[in-house]
Amino acid sequence: MTNPTILPAWKALAEHRREIATAHLRDWFASDPQRCQRFSLDWGEIFFDFSKNRITDKTLGLLFQLAEQSGLAARIESMFNGESINLSEDRAVLHVALRNRSERSIEVGGYDVMPDVRRVLDKMRRFTDQVHSGQWRGFSGKPISDVVNLGIGGSDLGPRMVTAALTPYQKQDLRVHFVSNVDETDLLETLRNLNQETTLFLVASKTFTTQETMTNARSARDWLIAGAGGDSAAVARHFAAISTNHNAVQAFGIDPENIFEFWDWVGGRYSLWSAVGLSIALAVGMGRFEELLQGAFEVDQHFRSTPFSRNIPVIMGLLGVWYANFLGAESHAVLPYDQYLRHFPDHLQQLDMESNGKRVDLTGKPVDYTTGPLVWGQPGTNGQHSFFQLLHQGTHLVPCDFLVAAESQHELGEHHAILLANCLAQAEALMKGKTEAEARDELVDLDLPEDKLAALAAAKTFPGNRPSNMFLFKRLTPKILGRLIALYEHKVFVQGTIWNVNSFDQMGVELGKQLAQAILPELEEGRTGDHDASTAALIETCRRWWDRK
Ligand code: F6P
Repeated sequence: MTNPTILPAWKALAEHRREIATAHLRDWFASDPQRCQRFSLDWGEIFFDFSKNRITDKTLGLLFQLAEQSGLAARIESMFNGESINLSEDRAVLHVALRNRSERSIEVGGYDVMPDVRRVLDKMRRFTDQVHSGQWRGFSGKPISDVVNLGIGGSDLGPRMVTAALTPYQKQDLRVHFVSNVDETDLLETLRNLNQETTLFLVASKTFTTQETMTNARSARDWLIAGAGGDSAAVARHFAAISTNHNAVQAFGIDPENIFEFWDWVGGRYSLWSAVGLSIALAVGMGRFEELLQGAFEVDQHFRSTPFSRNIPVIMGLLGVWYANFLGAESHAVLPYDQYLRHFPDHLQQLDMESNGKRVDLTGKPVDYTTGPLVWGQPGTNGQHSFFQLLHQGTHLVPCDFLVAAESQHELGEHHAILLANCLAQAEALMKGKTEAEARDELVDLDLPEDKLAALAAAKTFPGNRPSNMFLFKRLTPKILGRLIALYEHKVFVQGTIWNVNSFDQMGVELGKQLAQAILPELEEGRTGDHDASTAALIETCRRWWDRK
């Protein structure tokens, strides 16, 4: 547990930043034909090219030293060995156990968790087989046509993202929907076209107390019972729960047979590999779900056993530290050139920002350095026609991750080649930029007066030297997707280790929840609360417009 800023490598990196302050990526590429070969890793069907980063061999060497001096190797072992590395909640962090495809046992407090993990996987397999085969029937004897996952945060974003990403692998006669927002629009618009007789709800909630999910679950239950002519026995055929909280699930009225358990050592944002992934298994089949697990397992092995110099999540994490702490970057853009990966940035947003959006270190001391970045993005090429302007010519340094498949899932004329060309071109343009002289050359025929020419050339100049990673993968299969997600999970772990923060709690979401509980009766019943003038005026205005005053 060390303040990273006192480490020798940190100090050396601060010094090194001054050495390379005026260097340009364009010149590094021009003078070094081996640059891409040295700064890339061809790992199975993923080619990770990190050569377009503002790094030299020395930068990387110092970053690896920083990882060593931060005790990263020992901390990786602590996680895989089931130690309570989530200190504030005194819990192990073992999403790696959920995708452990080996015979190796993994213990928490001397108890091997693997038999439980396999038992739940078996139960998921039996359940998905029953639903797919039509053996599982609704209250009126019809097979299931629609599954609705009710969950939020980690109980929604991961499965939602994976299900969309694996659309080409989906079962044809079963539709899977996701409802997360407590705004009734989300539930009502989803239920609008569904039939109670053939709809199955999965209530995914680790705690089974989350206000949004429980409110949606209660309304969904009412909708179902109304459709079943008031017969609450229908719930047993139409509701399953994924939770660590058995008592609350049973109190809700869900048949204990329909409970898929997971454990407190699975963090919400790391839970798609657990029974929270039941919606994924229902969408694509258990075999595909296990391919996803396999991909993540391969990354776990890579992360645990590969030297830092060839370890992809370690390199990803260290590059982020370099930009955040030494080059002043405040955000990180994730840009999948793949429509099926449209929810990937949303998932990473929770993964990264809930994990490393922390202001105190593991001992509770406020940090005096930058921690987790703002993570954002959307699929290409759409983003090119909105925020890419800022990426190329704005005043912020925004490191970017591009993700793209070499092979499309479809064949439609030139579409995929155009998509790929755009993706590669954007990374090249960010890196190279366009000099003022090049811009002037393009304007020469306009024959403008010098002041106009200068202004226009300046506006058309791209500084370049803007960093990016490229994740080029062969095709978006379940295994490759599993790998991509796990790479980012471990990247977040690397950064949390260096920043010396607890990446596995999320205390920052609590205050708003507490205040919402207080405001609710004031809105509904007009009780008086103790608020600032602004909040009190907003409550009073709502009540007036509701005509309840
Ligand atoms: O509010 C944040 C959070 O606790 C997330 O970390 C979690 O993924 C989400 O809420 C949902 O929690 P649960 O699965 O317990 O409903």
